[in-house]
Amino acid sequence: MRLFRLIAVALVLGLNAFQVAAQPAPQVVASADSPSHVIHVDVTLNAEGRVGYSVSRLGKPVIADSRLGFLFTDAYEMLRNFVVASQSTRSSDQTWEEPWGEYRTIRDHYNELTVSFDESKLMKRRMTLVFRLFDDGIGFRYELPSVPGFTHANIADELTEFNIAEDGTAWWDEAEEWNREEYLYRKTPIEEIGFAQTPLTIRTASGLHLSIHEAALVDYSGMDLRRVADRDLKATLMPSSTGAKVSRDLPLATPWRVIMIAPDAPALYKSAQIILNLNEPNKLGDVSWVKPMKYVGIWWGMHLNQQSWNSGPKHGATTANAKKMIDFAAKNGFGGVLVEGWNVGWDGEWFGYGWNFSYTQPYPDFDLPAVAAYAHKKGVQLIGHHETGGNIANYEKQLGPALDLYQQLGMHAVKTGYVADAGGIQALGSDGKVHFEWHQGQVMVNHHLKVVTEAAKRQIAVDAHEPVKDTGLRRTYPNWVSREGERGMEYNAWGQPKNPPEHEANLVFTRMLSGPMDFTPGILSLKGVDNSPILSTLAKQLALYIVIYSPIQMAADLPENYEANPKAFQFIKDVAVDWDDTRMLAGDVGDLAVIVRKQRGSPNWFLGAVGDEQERHFDVAIDFLERGRSYRAEIYRDGDDADYRTNPRSIVIEQRIVTSTDRMAMRIAAGGGTAVRFVALPH
Ligand code: NOJ
Ligand code: CA
Repeated sequence: MRLFRLIAVALVLGLNAFQVAAQPAPQVVASADSPSHVIHVDVTLNAEGRVGYSVSRLGKPVIADSRLGFLFTDAYEMLRNFVVASQSTRSSDQTWEEPWGEYRTIRDHYNELTVSFDESKLMKRRMTLVFRLFDDGIGFRYELPSVPGFTHANIADELTEFNIAEDGTAWWDEAEEWNREEYLYRKTPIEEIGFAQTPLTIRTASGLHLSIHEAALVDYSGMDLRRVADRDLKATLMPSSTGAKVSRDLPLATPWRVIMIAPDAPALYKSAQIILNLNEPNKLGDVSWVKPMKYVGIWWGMHLNQQSWNSGPKHGATTANAKKMIDFAAKNGFGGVLVEGWNVGWDGEWFGYGWNFSYTQPYPDFDLPAVAAYAHKKGVQLIGHHETGGNIANYEKQLGPALDLYQQLGMHAVKTGYVADAGGIQALGSDGKVHFEWHQGQVMVNHHLKVVTEAAKRQIAVDAHEPVKDTGLRRTYPNWVSREGERGMEYNAWGQPKNPPEHEANLVFTRMLSGPMDFTPGILSLKGVDNSPILSTLAKQLALYIVIYSPIQMAADLPENYEANPKAFQFIKDVAVDWDDTRMLAGDVGDLAVIVRKQRGSPNWFLGAVGDEQERHFDVAIDFLERGRSYRAEIYRDGDDADYRTNPRSIVIEQRIVTSTDRMAMRIAAGGGTAVRFVALPH
């Protein structure tokens, strides 16, 4: 209709349809600056009454005018005919403390702009946009109030666009493909992005570093990004079995749509604090029972095919094996022992099936109470395991008793797992029937939070594998300690292909911007299934403990491989897992990351550096060390002849006394890395 009218007008005026399409520039109806005027946002309305926004940094466009709105399955789209109803601004500058994390304190400093729009026609609904402007990025969310005739939203899709103003290179992985979140990152021009997950990272031609992600994903569906034209990316919500991708009573507030905007790669890494800042404060109160720790487990043996999860001669989770692992943990100072395959349900189908899992019945050769008591006696935590095969119908039915059991046994952590193809989650619908859902759809978003809050009631921390993406909810629920959500070490056992040398240098600037990852580093054998080589040097396996942040870090290899490499193993025993401060000394997306972290409550620092397939030489200032103090640098570096293809085990372990005015020369081999522990010496 409208097009018809435009064409009619065009004919009268003697214009062609193309000229008509060139509408007047959208009008700016509201604006705001970040606290130091680095980031600027304009909110716009075009001639059709469509709401948009644009973002600039220091006067230079970052996001060109981009449309906003919604489609519904049972109501008119929310898209045109808007007029400004009201606008307001406010500012906030607060510093909060992380109970555990990469920083002890985080500053949350922003200016906020709220603009409400009313539809002038049809349903006369209201759409409010809240923008938070930080000096290193923005977050914005929609609020939809309840109005007569519109009290429930069945969202068919969100129409949010991110129209990247400048040319650039993107690091992204495929969305909504069968292997869920576990794809290698691709590096392409922005114009070659297809359908991408978030975080999606961009380096523009002028060197700006951007990452698009979301924060506080609660009772909503995860957001992917589809390129719809040139450099214009459009939000696409994860599907749901019911048609509407999100179904919610109003009022609702969407998750925050986040654009991190930084001058370089190290600054981008730090701007991920925005994700936490956009989440609500801790709702759990005293969480001193959430303990960052290193752990070992009955795990890698299964991935190597030397042991099995299911019953039989290779069954890994036996009482005897578990006690041996507990002894190993106690002897080497590890806080936890994970035992997978302890419970009935692994025999026959389980992948994408999960109906046979019991979460309370151990296999006959695994005496759970005895193992838990033995762990307790040795001062080690037993970590529970709930693999669901993606069947949350079966899991939720047993969730209460399953968590009660762990609580009774004094266990304070559980690893959950959802091994099913994408779209293969089995969930009980409100019709009492089982429906197939997506790992990041609204049903799963709600499931994870249910597990996390039920676990919190019993003082149990959660580490989810095949999870929903991290959107910073650990701030609100600090027992949600870690998750997988990308290709971890297990791909180096059986992956085809294995993780390439640049994998971790990609992760740091993409997946890791969302939050901690249970990557499970430390394979000192450097061997996967059938002795197939891992594409890493020995020193790099140590560096991963610093580079890939998680408050729970596994020493993933078999005990005999640690016993065979006692010198390198010493670093894994020494490395901390909880930090006062974190800094990136040097970094380039996909190429290099050099990160230092200060051990929480200690003057000691740790450094981790990883590269890619290229050998690199450089030096870094170590002026993060306390001035005037001497440190013993315990250095684990690639040997001069190290190379992941030809000589991956070549490592130099040496000690030097250093101070903050020194520089540290580094050589990272092809596929290599460096790990350093800086021990503060007495004044
Ligand atoms: C996949 C997880 O990532 C892995 O850690 C676990 O061992 C298997 N699922 C079995 O639950
Ligand atoms: Ca590279």
